[in-house]
Order: sequence, then structure tokens, then C-alpha cells
Amino acid sequence: MNILLIGSGGREHAFAYKLAQSKLCKQLFIMPGNAGTTQFGQNVKINPNDFAAVGQFSLENKIDLVIVGPEEPLVLGLRNYFEENENLKNTLFVGPDKMGATMEASKDWSKAFMYKNNIPTAAYKTFTSQNLEEGLEYLKTQKMPIVLKADGLAAGKGVLICQTLEEATSELQQMINDKKFGAASAKVVIEEFLSGIELSVFVLSDGNSYKILPTAKDYKRIGEGEMGLNTGGMGAISPVPFANDVFMQKVIDNIIEPTVQGLKNESIKYVGFIFVGLIKVGEEPMVIEYNCRMGDPETEAVLPRIETDFVELMVATAKGELQNIDLKISDKTTATVMMVSAGYPGDYEKGKVMTGFESVADSLLFHAGTSLNSNNEIVTNGGRVLAITSFGNSVNEAVSTSLANANKINYDGKYFRRDIGFEFL
Ligand code: AMP
Ligand code: GLY
Repeated sequence: MNILLIGSGGREHAFAYKLAQSKLCKQLFIMPGNAGTTQFGQNVKINPNDFAAVGQFSLENKIDLVIVGPEEPLVLGLRNYFEENENLKNTLFVGPDKMGATMEASKDWSKAFMYKNNIPTAAYKTFTSQNLEEGLEYLKTQKMPIVLKADGLAAGKGVLICQTLEEATSELQQMINDKKFGAASAKVVIEEFLSGIELSVFVLSDGNSYKILPTAKDYKRIGEGEMGLNTGGMGAISPVPFANDVFMQKVIDNIIEPTVQGLKNESIKYVGFIFVGLIKVGEEPMVIEYNCRMGDPETEAVLPRIETDFVELMVATAKGELQNIDLKISDKTTATVMMVSAGYPGDYEKGKVMTGFESVADSLLFHAGTSLNSNNEIVTNGGRVLAITSFGNSVNEAVSTSLANANKINYDGKYFRRDIGFEFL
């Protein structure tokens, strides 16, 4: 079949790798893709948010299956566009509609959803310019630290953990009055701070049934020991050692089942990935957030462990036939180390020539922010540049292989964390 994959990061390179392995994949297009995805398919220079152009491309290229990587086209309603178009509505599509994507697009909506469905999560209240004074009073009654979250999408920057009442007061005013995160912070969720260890659980839902994909833990801070600024993610491991059967049964009973049932109750036919960001508080899983897509770099660690034919899995999802799928997962551990540009997550330079690819052994390389220059050399083209994933019999083994290969890749200003998986070594 002809497949259109939307996105341009390491996540999409990992999707392309899995899709291209399948005998069912005839032609693979990646929109817009990166220098790595051309290894498995043809990059298409169309902006995925230009729905008319995506639709026209799909018709012209007889696309049978669309898979969406990032949240933005979903939040803007790409699935709805396909469903409402006579010529496109039969295209198989993995990714929720606009309503389903609200799980990620509105923190206020998703918190209300969790409360309604008795899903364990931090206590919260939501404020806007209408009741800002009440919000400032509310802060005075709360324990510090406290968490302030822009309701809308803020490119991963909309969550602030405030240590003092003064800081929280000032930030709440900046978010609502000064539009610190634009329209996204016109509404702010004030949330109790939870203390524990985080992990991600991924659910593949076909609207009727679901499958649980491997767990992963990502490492968000720029510095070793989880210090410094937040990033898109500096590495990941899968599975998460403490997510044993007892813990996962709690996740299923208290979180996944009520989430899937809750979506049905809202008449949302959710076809796609649900990324459940969890925190283990004591022995209990609680939800930090939902995303309507896979995580990045978690995908680069999770997908290589899926042994079931990936196109078959995506088709079954799109057709509502997941109950027929026998999901096979490798029992090996994977570790992903993300190589980034000097300066990231602040300002960084692009266009640094990358070398050493040919000496890499025993790892998968997923390009995140790369492109080809006019001499056809691979150059850096983003903050996060390259994800290196390795298998191992332990976290230690998998991480060591990824690090050994990260040492072989060179470019001006390269940086990566050497302590991915540190809690589990
Ligand atoms: P989010 O954008 O919702 O993923 O939040 C970003 C990060 O903020 C999370 O990965 C957590 O590390 C942290 N965070 C969010 N909510 C809370 C909370 N209620 N308690 C403690 N940390 C939180
Ligand atoms: N790695 C976190 C995310 O994809 O949102």
C-alpha cells in the first residue's frame, strides 16, 4: 500500500524505519521528512497544516494509509478534513480527530476529563482574566511548589513549577495578563505539585479496543543528573524497570480502562496513539498529562521493540480491528541517546557538517534535525540532531552501545548526555 507519514523528527524517522520493514509497504512518503527519512521513502515538501495540499497529494498518489506524527495537524483537524471529504473519507487514517486531540490541546479539558472519570491526577483549578483575582487568592491557600500550566499548546514550554508564592503570583499574572504564552495562557490550570518518578505509557486505540505499547522513560533536562533547562527530550529507555506487572495492572485498571471508556462516553471515536504521561507517587500511578501522539524521543526507543508487522498494526488500528492483532514485543531493553547542537535548548547554530556515520555499529540512527547541504553532506538543522538507539540485555548494555556510537559521530558543538538511564544502572 501507499503510505503517507506526516512529520519531520526523530520520531518520524523511527516510524519510517518500521513501516519500510513491512512487505505491505509499497511506497512511503514523508511530509516533510528530514535527511534521514529519505533512506526509507520519498520526502514531500508540503506543509502538513495545508490540508487542501495534503488532500490533493493523497489523491494524486493514491495514498491508502495516513499516519500523523506531531500533534499540530491533529489539533487543527486533519482527520476531520479527510472524513468530511467525499474522495478522502475512505483513506485509512491513524490519528485522532480534533475532539480527540483536545486531550493534548487543552489542559483544562483533560483535567476535567480525568476528574469526571475518577482517573488519579493532581488537584487543580482553572483561571482566566474573568477570575484572576480569585486565582491569586487561591494561590495563597496552596502549598509550594505549585505548578502553573498554560491551557493550550505552547511548544512544550507552557508548564512552570513555582517554588514561592511571589513567583507563582507573578507568573500567573504574566500568563493571563501579559499573554506570556500567547493565547495558550489565556486560561491557566493551577495544579498541585506531585513528587515522584515519571514514565510514559503509550496506548494504541482503534476506537473499540486498544493495545498497550512498551513503556518508556524520557530524560527531559539538558544537563546530567536531570539538571538545567527543559528540552524536548535528551534520551529515553524502554521498558521502564519499575513498571512491573503489579504497577502496570494499576495503570490499566485506574487509568487506561477509564480513559478509553471516558472517551467513548464523550462520543469520541479515538483512532491513534494516546501518550499517557505518568508519575509514580509512592506506589501509585497518577496522570501528569495526555498527548494525542507518540513521544519524541520515546518513539525511537519504543518502536524498535515492536516485532509485530508495523503496517499491519497501523491498518488494524485504522480499521478498528486491533482485537485481531497479536502484539509481539522484544524483551530486550532499548536506550536512545539524543545528540544536540551547542546552545540547545537556547539559541544554536545550524549547518554544521556531520561525519562518522560509517563507523557506527550495532545502533539505529534516527535523524531528528538534519538536512543535506549543497554538497550533499549531512548537516545539523535543529536543536535535537540525531537519536542513537541500541538494544541490550540491560539498561547498562543498551546505553553503553549508544554512547560508544555517539562518540563516533562528529560535528562542531556536539553535545549529549552520558547518564541516560542513570537511576537504573
Ligand atoms: P507537561 O508539559 O504537562 O508534560 O509538563 C512538563 C513537565 O512538568 C512534566 O514532565 C513534569 O516533569 C512537570 N509537571 C507537570 N505537572 C506536574 C505536577 N503536577 N507535579 C510535578 N511536576 C509536574
Ligand atoms: N518527550 C516528550 C514529548 O514528546 O512530549
